[in-house]
Amino acid sequence: MARIAAGADHAGVQMKDALVAYLRERGHEVVDCGTRGPDRVDYPDFGEAVARKVAAGEVELGLCVCGTGIGISMAANKVPGVRAAVVYDATSARLTREHNDANVVCLGERLIGPEAAREALDAFLGASFQGGRHVPRVAKIDALLPAGRPEDQ
Ligand code: RB5
Repeated sequence: MARIAAGADHAGVQMKDALVAYLRERGHEVVDCGTRGPDRVDYPDFGEAVARKVAAGEVELGLCVCGTGIGISMAANKVPGVRAAVVYDATSARLTREHNDANVVCLGERLIGPEAAREALDAFLGASFQGGRHVPRVAKIDALLPAGRPEDQ
């Protein structure tokens, strides 16, 4: 069983809530970082909340949902130590764990249905990093400085 932080904006909250319940039914410990309810919010706030818990080691993995999964993944990836990946199915979810050592899985409620989301989440949780040739590549990702806007560099 894993400790997982989950977060979403208003466009992903229904999928997030359903997946939080799904994970808890299966015995995982879930920290729900919100949002709760349909009011409009900003996805970076929830991507950051999940990512900070992963980076701090409070949880092992993160789950982020927004309309596409993309914006919230961009926010989560700003936090050093976090490797967030948007996935669309079980294959992409498995491969990003095996090859990229992704520790946050991001889904788009407006792009995939609930069954595909559950399958992707199951595949993500069931896979593990393969190591080997992937180790130096992931190390290169982690060594990149968190990017701000070019004018701030
Ligand atoms: C919200 O309308 C939407 O822009 C957001 O959920 C996400 O899709 C952004 O990437």
